Amino acid sequence: MEHADWLERWREGRTPFHMDRINPWLVRFAQRMDLGAQRRVLVPLCGKSLDLEYLARQGGSITGVDLAEEALRQFLEGQQREAVCQVRGDAIFLLAEPFTLVAADILTLTPEQIGRFDAIWDRAALVALPQACHAPYIRTLMSVLQPGGRILMVGMEYDTALMDGPPFSVSAQEIRELLGEVGRVELLAEQEVDPDEPICLHHDLPWVKESVYLITATDQEGEV
Ligand SMILES: C[S@@+](CC[C@H](N)C(=O)[O-])C[C@H]1O[C@@H](n2cnc3c(N)ncnc32)[C@H](O)[C@@H]1O
Repeated sequence: MEHADWLERWREGRTPFHMDRINPWLVRFAQRMDLGAQRRVLVPLCGKSLDLEYLARQGGSITGVDLAEEALRQFLEGQQREAVCQVRGDAIFLLAEPFTLVAADILTLTPEQIGRFDAIWDRAALVALPQACHAPYIRTLMSVLQPGGRILMVGMEYDTALMDGPPFSVSAQEIRELLGEVGRVELLAEQEVDPDEPICLHHDLPWVKESVYLITATDQEGEV
């Protein structure tokens, strides 16, 4: 999907991926991200996810990135928060402690612009990007993740003969190959999605499997 298509979806309110509750996988595994008061957490392709607020409650500061400024403003409105707006190059920063919300293409961001993070929460982010963007996306994440930092990621798989995406089907093997030596991948859980969920109904998919991974950034010697 082109950038303009995402922006149009947000303008028109076509956001079936948005959950009106905290993601249950995040609640179950957040402790594995080693969160806390001094921690910096990144939520790439955050939309207006309530997970941002849940992560803020665990302490630390939360940076969300989405192409759509509209999504970020809707999140702030839902939280009844005012933000200071700063335009920095191609990115728009909305600052509202403990949140830094950045309207930008995630693939263009660097550690100089957004800093480095102790943890990353990826729900419907890698799988929202087309395959050609997967390697650049993982490179971006690893460039801003501290050594030993952790990514909690929800992957999704389905029969690709039936649908192309988004969301795109991404296997454990692809995730391991994308990370190579720079991250250790641990499968924490996997589960078939309820057939009544929008992802199954909207795309007429008989099965969809979600898998939760904990990725730990290795240092230069390949240690975690
Ligand atoms: C499937 S939604 C998921 C939103 C959120 N993670 C959630 O769980 O509700 C994907 C989001 O990624 C954003 N997006 C797509 N491509 C992007 C890119 N290259 N950089 C930043 N955001 C992007 C879209 O605007 C959309 O809000």
